[in-house]
Amino acid sequence: MKLNSLLPSFAFSIAAMSSLSNADALDSLGHIHSLSFAGEEQQTLLLGAHHGLYSYQHNNANLVSKQAFDVMGLAREPKTGTVFASGHPPQGGNTGLLRSDDGGKNFTLVSEGLDGPVDFHQLAISAVDPRRIYGVHGGLQVSNDGGKSWRKAGALPPKLLKLAASNTQLNRLYAASEQGFFVSQNSGETWQKSLSSPATTVVTHQGRVFAFIVGQGLVVANESDMQWREIYNAFGLQVLLDLAVSGDGQRLVGLSQKGELLESLNKGESWNSLPPKPQPVTTQEMNGRKIYQANCQSCHGIEAVGETYSIDGLTTEGFLFAPALNGSMHGWHHTDEQLVKTIMDGSPRTAKMPAWKGTLSETDALDTIAYLKTLWGEKQKRCQGPGHMDRNCLQGH
Ligand code: HEC
Repeated sequence: MKLNSLLPSFAFSIAAMSSLSNADALDSLGHIHSLSFAGEEQQTLLLGAHHGLYSYQHNNANLVSKQAFDVMGLAREPKTGTVFASGHPPQGGNTGLLRSDDGGKNFTLVSEGLDGPVDFHQLAISAVDPRRIYGVHGGLQVSNDGGKSWRKAGALPPKLLKLAASNTQLNRLYAASEQGFFVSQNSGETWQKSLSSPATTVVTHQGRVFAFIVGQGLVVANESDMQWREIYNAFGLQVLLDLAVSGDGQRLVGLSQKGELLESLNKGESWNSLPPKPQPVTTQEMNGRKIYQANCQSCHGIEAVGETYSIDGLTTEGFLFAPALNGSMHGWHHTDEQLVKTIMDGSPRTAKMPAWKGTLSETDALDTIAYLKTLWGEKQKRCQGPGHMDRNCLQGH
């Protein structure tokens, strides 16, 4: 299969994109690294971010942790609600493994880990026995006593992106990696690849495993039989790097490689941005949405998130995905005139982006652009065109 030969470019795209800006509304948190639900019913969304641990409710983020630290790994023990975290203190260095028994307000040091102090970028706790904790720092480390002492496990799958512990088998562990989806039955000593498309995240929830598989979207399996079922595959060019599932399983929140949050209120069957994108207001924007949905959405995706990754796209050399036009890619680097020209004349590189001049008028094209701008952030609107090269504009001066 050709897939593997194309993975380096895919890996590059994840790495490059994750350094792009967050959604404007969440800018003050710095990059979000990890998600979890907390509270008795597990309805409060926790964000592990560059400036600390935040709760996110009614589209407002509030700092929960009294200590400010860059939260990298984050894991919550499902039964007791104990929160474990690891990352970097503001003065630099690593925090070691931290623990909070009050929902993330106060953290205390559990241990420095092996070769520490560690910054576990990945943390996983077994729901079968909460004393079993896994952390990734210079390889996989395993603890059997709640994080006090640690031993090294076997080699991890290469290009690991996310680790999750089984809810039903003490020694079973799942790994999402750019090289596939892996399972270990012996606490990470050895691994078996069970899916070969890139897997960008995995979480376990009440006996089920959720994973994001590039080309297949969000999938779920019961841990008892590991038969995958597709939940949703219209994420466009977004992949989920983390996922949190609420206590009742109704609400899912995902973190894209662009640092943006996505939310589903119906078990993953449909998704919107979090906070939701503003609705079109003016006649021009509303007309533009109609034109977009009728002519462009089939390729550029729902709310212009881009053409969804497909196995075909990943295995065909030179395949050009229809880019996101929602402000997350470089569409906003062009002026209105340049965008109109692309829409009217098509792309010189591929007939896949056809010329629309036989079908649409220039006014239609401008209306479509007006709609697309409702999906852009403040920065994209302010610095459209040449402004994208202007540091002052980008920094908001
Ligand atoms: C059949 C698939 C398809 C349809 C339908 C389609 N596009 Fe595209 N579009 C593409 C592809 C593929 C590209 C990338 C071309 C390239 O890389 O040269 C593209 C590129 C673009 C670009 C350039 C983006 C950039 O960052 O430079 C714009 C703007 C655009 N399309 C707008 C539209 C609009 C508006 C519509 C509807 C009127 C539309 N497209 C319909 C496939 C499509």
